[in-house]
Amino acid sequence: MPPYQRHVFVCTNRRAEDNPKGSCALKGSEAVLERFKEELHRRGLKGKMRANAAGCLDACAFGPSVVIYPEGVWYAGVRVEDVVEIVESHLLGNVPVERLRMKGTTGALPPDSSP
Ligand code: FES
Repeated sequence: MPPYQRHVFVCTNRRAEDNPKGSCALKGSEAVLERFKEELHRRGLKGKMRANAAGCLDACAFGPSVVIYPEGVWYAGVRVEDVVEIVESHLLGNVPVERLRMKGTTGALPPDSSP
């Protein structure tokens, strides 16, 4: 049994502004991570779910990039304003937010993933 029911990884990799690869931190991912942490804390989910900074997830063009385990659902272009929807729909409701899913990725909710 993993220690967390859900583990949210947010890429906070930062590259120089003139780097052609771009980076998630330059697109606002650090604020996205903080919003996830706040929201999990506010809802009393500490110890059950966790949001962590991640290094480059190798999806730089689609950032801010987020991946949620154990199901391995990837999100692209996540903004601070999207966090509540991901928490409510995906983390608590077990329904991934389709409009934010990274194209070409898979990942499915396990059969019993209720918090
Ligand atoms: S910099 Fe975020 S995925 Fe590469």
